Amino acid sequence: MCGIVGYKGKSDACGILIDALKRLEYRGYDSAGIAVWNKGKIEVARQKGKVDELRKIVADSSFAGKTGIAHTRWATHGTPSERNAHPHKAGDVVVVHNGIIENYIELKDRLRKEGHKFLSDTDTEVIPHLIMSYIKKGRDFVEAVRLSLKELRGSYALGIIREADKMLIAARKESPLIVGVGNGEYYIASDAPAIINRTKRFIFLEDDDIAVFAEGTVKLIDLEGKAVKREIRQVQWSDAMAEKGGFKHFMLKEIFEQPRAISETLIGRVKEEKGQVDFEELKLPDLAKIKKIWMVACGTSYHACMIGKHLFESMLRIPVETDIASEFRYREPILKEDDMLVLVSQSGETADTIAAMKEGKKRGVYTLSVCNVLGSTLARDADGVIFTHAGPEIGVASTKAFTTQISVLFLFALHMGKTLGRISASDVSGYINEIKQVPHKIQSILDASGLIEEVARKYMAYRNFLYLGRGVNYPSVLEGALKLKEISYIHAEAYAAGEMKHGPIALIDENMPVVVVSPHDHTYKKTCGNVEEVISRRGRVLMLTDDPSHEMADRVETFFVLPRTIYALQPILSVVPLQLLAYHIANFLGTDVDQPRNLAKSVTVE
Ligand code: M6R
Repeated sequence: MCGIVGYKGKSDACGILIDALKRLEYRGYDSAGIAVWNKGKIEVARQKGKVDELRKIVADSSFAGKTGIAHTRWATHGTPSERNAHPHKAGDVVVVHNGIIENYIELKDRLRKEGHKFLSDTDTEVIPHLIMSYIKKGRDFVEAVRLSLKELRGSYALGIIREADKMLIAARKESPLIVGVGNGEYYIASDAPAIINRTKRFIFLEDDDIAVFAEGTVKLIDLEGKAVKREIRQVQWSDAMAEKGGFKHFMLKEIFEQPRAISETLIGRVKEEKGQVDFEELKLPDLAKIKKIWMVACGTSYHACMIGKHLFESMLRIPVETDIASEFRYREPILKEDDMLVLVSQSGETADTIAAMKEGKKRGVYTLSVCNVLGSTLARDADGVIFTHAGPEIGVASTKAFTTQISVLFLFALHMGKTLGRISASDVSGYINEIKQVPHKIQSILDASGLIEEVARKYMAYRNFLYLGRGVNYPSVLEGALKLKEISYIHAEAYAAGEMKHGPIALIDENMPVVVVSPHDHTYKKTCGNVEEVISRRGRVLMLTDDPSHEMADRVETFFVLPRTIYALQPILSVVPLQLLAYHIANFLGTDVDQPRNLAKSVTVE
């Protein structure tokens, strides 16, 4: 997740922009850059590495100026390097960008034919070139930007300046961007913490908004050039609250970030029209030789592996063995040369998962890590890496990392299935279409967070919970129970629903809430039987289902309807209300939600 900042006002832009970038450092980045306008010239500096290094470069007096843009980059297209760092320049237009331009290859081909020369591997570089192509055709700066934006597919938050104009232009589509309103001066930022020390008055830009900043004024237009009005809102956020985006806890913010996080995971990788999934960053062995896949991880990431097993076995008919990383190497796993070992980890620093990777390497198998943190050990040392692009996850309880891990495993299954000829291009397109709808479906669950809060209030006093699910939803109830125990300290156990009668049923009485995930799939009837058994023992059933007319609807105590999706993607949806339930119960109980007792975000000891 890149960071964008911009400034137009009466003070030294350089100091303000570097300070704002420093305040976004907590999100992680691999390179940084800045551009400052000064009397018709723009000075640009960019480099791989830290903002402090950039500060040293711009200490040079030629960087004086009162208008500028700056950026921290987390590589998606092209490796981390000076030439891929932002800002990108074409002619006299300079751009910083957050998001991904999906049609950049088509645009690049067209612009090359018009004589444009590209210097980086990024998707972003097409934007200043496209703007320049309109300027060359006689359009003014604002028009050139507006017409260019209409051609972009994908997502963007943009800061744009030009030597021949004093203006700063900002625009957004599906990537956050706010405007900070000062006293005769304006700021732009992808995240409030960057500028919360400068102003507490914000305009929250909406999709397709373009903001044009001239001397002491801002004008907002849409993609058709019509004026739009957005209210200036006064926030009362402290620095810490700004980092949490106004949410009470990082965990809640991260739960609500899931639609965007999953969209970012998909962007640039799915080529729906071609029925393809593309992992540019990946060096893979000959997939046809792979006879077996191992998926190994800890905690929440292990639950994602369990879902991965379902996906690969049902969609590709490739055998998958999952293991908890702390168990893996001690049981002397029978790894064969043509096996693939997939290590899943948010942090990329979990000691047991790293040890599992080393075990795999020692035995000569191809290791693939699925990681969220760039530059982490698992990302660096595995033979291949797929990043989840969830953005920084600060709450100890993992949420958006989990749903993006499932998304990555799903995409990788499609990629492998297509490559091996086990899934047709039209089926891949169908699957892609389904996952593209997931962010909107999660949003509809988040919109019902108030309802789940009321459910949490009703059950917060119970000290034991049972969770039941079948098939692909068994890992999702394991995850729901893990969330509840780690942040609320309530004892919660999850079982494959069919296992209930083999023991846990003895626990059921009127003091036992039983959370059941029961979609209308091939497991439906069997789970109805389990619910019947719980009800007849006076257990309190909280049911999540995608079937509004579920046959147990009137008999359970609490009933929540999930949006429908295909079987393989159900856990991404069913886990979200479980995350919210755990969160709201913990919040009512007043525990330290973001840093629960005895837990660390990254477990770096075995
Ligand atoms: O960073 P990792 O994904 O490797 O971490 C693995 C577990 O430590 C982690 O998922 C842990 O279980 C979380 N606290 C769960 O919310």
